[in-house]
Amino acid sequence: MDEDATVQTYQNYIGGEWVSSVSGRTFENRNPANDDEVIGLFQDSTTSDVEAALAAAARAYDTWRLTPAPKRAELLLAAAARLVQHKEAFARDMTREMGKVLEETRGDVQEAIDMTQFMAGEGRRQYGQTVPSELRDKFAMSVRQPLGVCSMITPWNFPMAIPSWKIAPALVCGNTVVLKPATLTPLSAVNFVKVLEDVGIPPGVVNLVTGGAEVGTRMATHDVVKVVSFTGSTVVGRLVNQNAAPGFKKVHLEMGGKNVIVVMDDAQLELAVEGCLWGGFGTTGQRCTAASRVVVHEKVYDVFLREFAARAKALRVGNGLDEQTQMGPSVSESQLQTVMKYVEIGRAEGATLVTGGHRLDTGAYARGWFHEPTIFGDVAPGMRIAQEEIFGPVVSVMRCRSLDEAIAIGNGVAYGLSASIYTRDINKAFTAMRDMYTGIFYVNAPTIGAEVHLPFGGTKATGNGHREAGTAALDVFSEWKSIYVDFSGRLQRAQIDT
Ligand code: UN1
Repeated sequence: MDEDATVQTYQNYIGGEWVSSVSGRTFENRNPANDDEVIGLFQDSTTSDVEAALAAAARAYDTWRLTPAPKRAELLLAAAARLVQHKEAFARDMTREMGKVLEETRGDVQEAIDMTQFMAGEGRRQYGQTVPSELRDKFAMSVRQPLGVCSMITPWNFPMAIPSWKIAPALVCGNTVVLKPATLTPLSAVNFVKVLEDVGIPPGVVNLVTGGAEVGTRMATHDVVKVVSFTGSTVVGRLVNQNAAPGFKKVHLEMGGKNVIVVMDDAQLELAVEGCLWGGFGTTGQRCTAASRVVVHEKVYDVFLREFAARAKALRVGNGLDEQTQMGPSVSESQLQTVMKYVEIGRAEGATLVTGGHRLDTGAYARGWFHEPTIFGDVAPGMRIAQEEIFGPVVSVMRCRSLDEAIAIGNGVAYGLSASIYTRDINKAFTAMRDMYTGIFYVNAPTIGAEVHLPFGGTKATGNGHREAGTAALDVFSEWKSIYVDFSGRLQRAQIDT
């Protein structure tokens, strides 16, 4: 489809209405596998649009917070069922707007289904505590309460899953929401929000505003906002944190990663190679959880690297809509430039380029942002390609002589999202499990593949201590109220009249 009058314009969703931005401007969303294809035009929103959305969310809050949680959950369950019906269409839209292969975009929609179902279940849980009081005829308990309006700023690599990770728990806890999706993937966010509209989420409870930094900044600073939940780069996350700090907002940040797979000399090598391929090149390496580093025991280093490189070289790169394709393009021209820049950095640092290293731009690749799956060997742990998040199909392979050394290399980065070990020795597996300082750890599986019912998040520069997914997400989107009911009919003083 070339640019023409058939390109659809999508609007913001504010207070239950689809509306245009007051700016009168739109921005284009293009297919990274074919830059000639415009997916749609989206609102280039301003501060006033954000303010309208936040005001709608604030108006809707009192009614929504007083709607019983099991009733709120029924709407989520209906939304999950509707997502199931539209799974294939939404996956295709997602592949067109951000490039990852269909199998993975189906997985992304599935992750949104799983999360929405899981959080629907929380409508009948959200358990608090009841405990004996230290005083007679006194009752003590704790309950979760919602916070109010939540701002959500989401990335392009999981365009439906990550909005669902934030919206579903926020809603079941009784909050209202304004979502700003990445400008590279607004269509998947529109699809998700439309489903919520279709199942009857009341006007103002969920609002969507598309646009750039101006939108995000206002969402982090406005007085009415009580929670800001952000997934994206560490640089932007720091800004969000700074913007939100003066208002004492609760800020949940989920940022970069430089995740490691350790391959010990007793590992099942074929399994480890498969894991490193999926971990390194799944989603074209554009996951926070991507296995961008591999540390291999020196005894198996050569044989592992030979096989890993051969398999990477054989990956079929192309348009993600083609079922044969195993790896899609980078999401954008600037992301591709970053990948190419790091390939240059790796060469200049003296690492060995084992396979890949080039942009693909001829024939079927000519109009897209494709790059070869790339592996560097002989990487030293201090090199920039072993320290900095590239967010592309580039894997740095390093040698180690022992488990201790592997753990030290693994922990020797600024981030701490996910880590993995391939070994058949249970002692090594448990030692690594204990000593890798990350939020997620795998044994005999790659660094990607988190499931929705366990906490997701990382240590160090990956996050700020919060977790999403699982019941941990409830801790982000609710706060505790401790309640004491004294039915003694007299003044009883805690700590004194015991
Ligand atoms: C991300 O990379 O931003 O564990 C999210 C995984 C996916 C989620 C990744 N379930 O890789």
